Amino acid sequence: MGQQDSHVMKTLTQFILGLVAFAVIIFVIAQIMTGGFYSGDKPAASMNDDAAIAERIAPVAKVMEAGAAPVAAAAPTEQSGKDVYNSACFACHGTGAAGAPKLGDKAAWSARIAQGLDVLSGHAINGFQGKKGFMPAKGGNPALSDDAVSAAVKYMVDESK
Ligand code: HEC
Repeated sequence: MGQQDSHVMKTLTQFILGLVAFAVIIFVIAQIMTGGFYSGDKPAASMNDDAAIAERIAPVAKVMEAGAAPVAAAAPTEQSGKDVYNSACFACHGTGAAGAPKLGDKAAWSARIAQGLDVLSGHAINGFQGKKGFMPAKGGNPALSDDAVSAAVKYMVDESK
């Protein structure tokens, strides 16, 4: 190997070493930027995979489940007498249609209220043929629970005293 060759080799070696060093630096920077070095506390690259997201929202999901359960359980009675009245009874009792005693009509209700809530609820739940007309069982809405109908009766009575 001549003087010239060894000089070329030296330059070439330096160049290659320089490239390697550059590659290493880029690699290190890339690792730092993506969090690859910090596997201890959640590398940034894996922060957004499905499992990681599910894990992070789990507490919120649990709170929502816990919060939803009592609300759902309370719904049947929580569906207030007023709600039931508006959805199932108003058609007749809001207008007086078919001879129904109107909500708030004290004269039409006083004698009925005198029968007591139990009798009124019984008539509303099971249906009732009176002198004025026919009160269909549960206002013609068999999906309503007895409690819901009773709550509606109580609401109507309270509003008609
Ligand atoms: C299709 C019309 C209609 C609907 C809907 C209806 N009612 Fe009636 N309701 C009547 C009529 C008519 C009477 C009066 C019957 C009579 O005394 O001649 C009546 C009477 C009543 C009475 C008095 C019963 C008594 O002993 O005097 C109650 C209480 C009552 N309804 C509750 C309800 C409730 C609660 C709902 C809703 C869940 C409802 N009604 C929906 C037509 C209806």
